[in-house]
Amino acid sequence: MIGRLITLEGIDGSGKSTALPHIARRIAERQPKRKIVLTAEPTSGEVGRILRKGLKEASGDEQASPAMRMNELFLFMADHAEHLDRIVLPSLKDGAMVLSDRYADSTAAYQGVTLQGILPHPVFWIQEVFRPWNAVPDMTLLFLLDPERALKRLGSRPGKEKFERLEFLISVEENFRTIALAEPERFVLIDAAQDEETVARDAARAVLDLLAR
Ligand code: TYD
Repeated sequence: MIGRLITLEGIDGSGKSTALPHIARRIAERQPKRKIVLTAEPTSGEVGRILRKGLKEASGDEQASPAMRMNELFLFMADHAEHLDRIVLPSLKDGAMVLSDRYADSTAAYQGVTLQGILPHPVFWIQEVFRPWNAVPDMTLLFLLDPERALKRLGSRPGKEKFERLEFLISVEENFRTIALAEPERFVLIDAAQDEETVARDAARAVLDLLAR
């Protein structure tokens, strides 16, 4: 079996993390012999832990200096490199189906906002840095949801993180849409405003179609 890499992307509260186990279950039913690896960025590795600690600080990132923002970008990139080395590439070599909750597109979309005015065309700048050493996903499921609704969903969950603000998420959602428009062959758009079950079914169906190709 050849390895496959599927990534899930979308703003905070778009429901990707909820859909992930449902998608995995449906793939396992269809291909019981296939090894399935569930993973995420930020990872649970050393750099990922530093990042998560910073994200818990709900003080927002308005006060962050340009240097702090660049620092954060490079931490996400270092975490991604570690993710590739430790999990993604070995699993793909092993013929696994790798499902990642967030991946390099999150860095382009989120840090593409935090670095506005600091880097020229930050989304493209970040994508160019990734290009020579990234494993490109076979498919990216982009969960699209109105940021206001996404924030409402998050409202019921304790511990607000620093990126969970309306204007910020509106810009991130715009970046995701721009990125997806440029690569229609890789992206599948998921209407995340539907109920959980329907969202998971749509997402799983897209992945199963890819496997049947
Ligand atoms: P998230 O998957 O939402 O974590 P949680 O399990 O806590 O919901 O990711 C944490 C945050 O990190 C989220 O706001 C998106 C942000 N992020 C970036 O800003 N850049 C990146 O490269 C990645 C992977 C995540």
